[in-house]
Amino acid sequence: MKTLVTANQKGGVGKTATLVHIAFDFLERGLKVAVIDLDTQANASFTLKAFKSGLNASGLLSGQMQDYENASASSNGMTLIESDLGLANMEKMELKDAGGNFRAAIQMLSAAGYDVCLIDTAPSLGITMGAALLAADYVLSPIELEAYSIQGIKKMVTTIANIRKVNPALKFLGMVPSKVDGRNPRHSRHLAELTQAYPSLMVPTGIGLRSSIADALASGIPVWKINKTAARKASQEVRALAAHVYQVMEIK
Ligand SMILES: Nc1ncnc2c1ncn2[C@@H]1O[C@H](COP(=O)(O)OP(=O)(O)OP(=O)(O)O)[C@@H](O)[C@H]1O
Ligand SMILES: [Mg+2]
Repeated sequence: MKTLVTANQKGGVGKTATLVHIAFDFLERGLKVAVIDLDTQANASFTLKAFKSGLNASGLLSGQMQDYENASASSNGMTLIESDLGLANMEKMELKDAGGNFRAAIQMLSAAGYDVCLIDTAPSLGITMGAALLAADYVLSPIELEAYSIQGIKKMVTTIANIRKVNPALKFLGMVPSKVDGRNPRHSRHLAELTQAYPSLMVPTGIGLRSSIADALASGIPVWKINKTAARKASQEVRALAAHVYQVMEIK
C-alpha cells in the first residue's frame, strides 16, 4: 500500500478538493482506497459520506484497535475513516507517540488489503499533520496563487524537509496551483515567481478556479459527474492531476 497526504497549513487552498478527486479517480481505476480525514472540519468526511465505515480517525493516532478487515469487506472499494471530535485531543499527544501509533495503523490498513491510503489534513502545523507525514510515502501541497499562500509555503517546505530527517521515505510530490484564475495577472505573476523559486517542486498540472468543483464537493460526486458543459474543463484538469499522481506514486 502507498500512502499520500495532502498538506498545507494555509486554509482553503484546495487540499480537500484535490484529495477527494484523487480518491474518486483511483476508485475508478479499480484500486482499493482508504481515505483518512484528520481534519475536525470533516469536509472530506462530508463529501465521501457514502463510503462511511464506522472507523474513526482519532483511533489511528491514539492507538485504539479498530476492525480494518471488516471495514474493508463492507465497502465498495473505498473506505472512509471519518473525522471525529476526538481528533482535537490528539494535539495534546507527543508527536513521537501519535506518529508511532499512526504508522502502526497504516501497516494494519496495508495488511487489510488496501492499495492506497489518502490522508486529508487540517490547515495547521500540528501533531495530526506531523503524524501523517511521519507515516506517509508522499505529500502533495495544493497552493493558491495569492500572497498569503505564497508567504506560507516556505514554512511548509521546511516542515517537510524536517520530517524527512525522521521519515526519509517521505517524498514531496510538489505544489499544485489551485483555484487558478487564468485571467488574473496577479495569479500569473505568482505562478512565475513560484516556478522560479521552486523549479523542481511545481506539479505540471494545476486546477483552475471552477465553481463546478465546489458543486461536486457539495454533492458528494466527482466533478466529471457534474452534468454541465462548464464542468468539462475542471474534469480534464482534475483527471490530469490524478493521472500524474498515479504515475509518480507507481501504485501498481
Ligand atoms: N478549483 C476550485 N475552484 C473553485 N472553488 C474551489 C476549488 N477548489 C476548492 N474550491 C472551494 O474552495 C473552498 C476551499 O477548498 P478546500 O476545502 O478543498 O480547501 P482546503 O485547503 O481543504 O481547506 P481547509 O484548509 O479549510 O481544509 C471550498 O469551499 C471549495 O468548495
Ligand atoms: Mg480541507
